[in-house]
Amino acid sequence: MSHYNFDSCTDRRHSDAIKYAELSQFFGDTDLLPMWIADMDFDVCPEICEALTRRIDHHIYGYASIPPEFYPTISQWLQRRHNFKVEPEEMTFVPGVVRGIGYVINRLTRPGEKILIQPPVYHPFRHVIEGNNRVVVTNPLRPVAGGYEMDLEGLAEVIEREKPVMMILCNPHNPVGIQWSRETLERVAEICARQGVIVISDEIHGDLMLGGISHVPFLDVSDDARRIGIMLGAPSKSFNIPGMVSSWMIIKDPLLRRRMFDWLTVNEFNVPTFFATTATIAAYTHGEKWLDEALAYIEGNIDYVAENIGRMTGGKLKIVRPSASFLVWLDCRDLGMTHEQLKQFIIDKARLALNDGAMFGIEGEGYMRMNLGAPRSVVEKALKQLSDAIMLI
Ligand SMILES: Cc1ncc(COP(=O)(O)O)c(C=O)c1O
Repeated sequence: MSHYNFDSCTDRRHSDAIKYAELSQFFGDTDLLPMWIADMDFDVCPEICEALTRRIDHHIYGYASIPPEFYPTISQWLQRRHNFKVEPEEMTFVPGVVRGIGYVINRLTRPGEKILIQPPVYHPFRHVIEGNNRVVVTNPLRPVAGGYEMDLEGLAEVIEREKPVMMILCNPHNPVGIQWSRETLERVAEICARQGVIVISDEIHGDLMLGGISHVPFLDVSDDARRIGIMLGAPSKSFNIPGMVSSWMIIKDPLLRRRMFDWLTVNEFNVPTFFATTATIAAYTHGEKWLDEALAYIEGNIDYVAENIGRMTGGKLKIVRPSASFLVWLDCRDLGMTHEQLKQFIIDKARLALNDGAMFGIEGEGYMRMNLGAPRSVVEKALKQLSDAIMLI
């Protein structure tokens, strides 16, 4: 029997939620069903709210030190959920995963140097590289029946030819929802270590595993990975608390760690707010049951879409079934539209706000990303709107 109710949630309109507040800016329309930016619509686990309320009720919000249980709590979580051993001193707080990537790029690379990404991939990777005057090189994912695979030969070739100094790995990979296998990650580590390429592994979706598949932390796969790897993770996606801005960075190699952590420390980039520590400790201590139920609910949403989308759209839409997270990569290519027509069709006719597939790289043309971290009734409504719009073409 479930303890938590994911069928009905608090109304997020007029709460500054980006999902609603920025509809007009991104879609030119405010009256759309929003299934875009990657947070969930579910109310968070009550123990997180209670911990925050207790802290707020204290009424003095002075400088707060990091509670002694903060890093051990994260470490125990990683051990329990992913069988991944991390010593508390191997990790540090960072205020967000994208900021963490930005810090690493600024500290460990120079302007003009090349950084590799694998599109279609989470779009801020490109922005943070280019915005810091570094140069993007790509090794696109290889489309295969029903999904994608990593092009490991391509990776070795691009690294040999372009000589990037860093790679940003998305593990699991947003937007296509793939958890990379241990063998694939071992090969990535081997290829990158051979050329001295540092690997940032963004594992923010790593707690959101589906279908009985296990998350494989990059730093767990080999000595090569531990020598060159920087892992970033957070409770933010898992527990629907990205507004708390709490993330962590793990570096196993002592020299690399010192170069990075000392710089974060002098700049005070690794000083959390007490909201971040309070919410993180509560989530990892009390949120496990909530997370397991949320994942089962999300899996149900994905099943619903997978089972009905073909029939409801005359076979025109398909999904790439994710092995992690609440984001679904929607293959719209059989609609026979240009990408611009597709974007407009989704807004004007289906009345949905979805993420434009091409924002993740031109490889995403003909695709849209749909957020299924919502009550089933919302998912059903969205599918009906898509179906009705397609039937009228
Ligand atoms: C792969 C990936 N990394 C990072 C983020 C954002 O993390 P943060 O808000 O901690 O910067 C997201 C959010 O969608 C994401 O999908």
